[in-house]
Amino acid sequence: MESRAILNADGHAEQPAPPDDARILGIESSCDETAAAVVAGGQTILSSVVASQVDIHRKYGGVVPELASREHLRQIVPVVREALGQASVALPDVSAVAVTRGPGLVGSLLVGVTYGKVLAMALGKPLIPVNHLEGHVHAVLLEAHAARRQPDLPAICLIVSGGHTILYRVIGESTKVVANHSNGRDSIQVFHYARIGGTRDDAAGEAYDKVAKMLALGYPGGPIIDQLASFGDPRAVRFGETKMRGNVHDFSFSGIKTAVFYHLRKHAELHAEIAARAEALARGEKKADALKPLCSKATLDLVASFQRAVVGDLVRRTMSAAEEYKSRSVLVSGGVAANRELRASFEEVAKREGVEVYFPSRALSTDNAAMIAAAAYPRYLAGEAADATLNAEANLPLA
Ligand code: KG4
Ligand code: ZN
Repeated sequence: MESRAILNADGHAEQPAPPDDARILGIESSCDETAAAVVAGGQTILSSVVASQVDIHRKYGGVVPELASREHLRQIVPVVREALGQASVALPDVSAVAVTRGPGLVGSLLVGVTYGKVLAMALGKPLIPVNHLEGHVHAVLLEAHAARRQPDLPAICLIVSGGHTILYRVIGESTKVVANHSNGRDSIQVFHYARIGGTRDDAAGEAYDKVAKMLALGYPGGPIIDQLASFGDPRAVRFGETKMRGNVHDFSFSGIKTAVFYHLRKHAELHAEIAARAEALARGEKKADALKPLCSKATLDLVASFQRAVVGDLVRRTMSAAEEYKSRSVLVSGGVAANRELRASFEEVAKREGVEVYFPSRALSTDNAAMIAAAAYPRYLAGEAADATLNAEANLPLA
């Protein structure tokens, strides 16, 4: 490759840093998505393949663990092969194998961990275990870095998905580089996390899924409620603000879910349309276009009010944490981060309060393996690796 001298701000010649050719193969199988990706230099996605099992779990209205692990077993080899093919990277050219170690469904995690372990051993490459939640943080950092945006640290991070609703402080620390692919650097920033709050009952995405189930809107509930909410009046049904005793940075979504349940019990006139939608779902209709004509104004208002209450709570508690910890940056990640009202509301409040808010693209909001490879990158450069004793950990905490 051609090497050119460039001039720095003082007019002195500077050698460009050699390209960082670390190619990390990421593998993710913590829940109901089998995913593999190749990420170069920690921030360039060469491929990201996600095989979703949503069609398998839809008729049960939630993930069935036994079916999930069986499907991961069927998908893992073709998905990894596809990711390598799309990236035009041959297995021997992979620098390291990164795999989600937890948290998640143990049977699902075991498929990825076992496969990743055997692959890394066969290739003689480092095996980097990654916490799924750290992956979600890196889904944001990956795209921010690629866009040359550098969130101010320590930042506040909200991870909000079907399984989690947690607030962390993200702290950066400079660490010595020991791996070859150093891009000329001798230090790299690694990240530490401090948990400052989280849900005491349901995760926000779980509340979306359960409310969608009660209303016969299909599975997963988030995307359809997101679409239907824009047609309703968010002030029509009043849900009281959730008060938290003790840690004010905690969340609770079971109250609002129960409020929807009692609302439906009280409004028997909504039951016929619920039965009609259940029939439509059984016929395989699942798109908002097909279900919206089967929703009365009262249902659209209920959906809009539910979403307004959840979004309001998420934004209020996250921004109050940012204020308390004097953070100038807020990161929002996980499946619910794809929600349009959540994004718009965060943008508006953050702008008013002079805080920068960072979201992943919608594709990287939900589970994927690019975020796992990106999270592994600084750990790989810092020389962290697991041995053959690595095991899946269903309840692995991030902090
Ligand atoms: O991160 P993810 O793919 O898997 C977990 O780790 O849980 O998140 C899936 C969750 C589901 O509960 C789904 O209903 C929710 O994210 N979700 C949304 C939206 N898209 C997905 N919730 C609200 N609005 C959305 N647009
Ligand atoms: Zn997730």
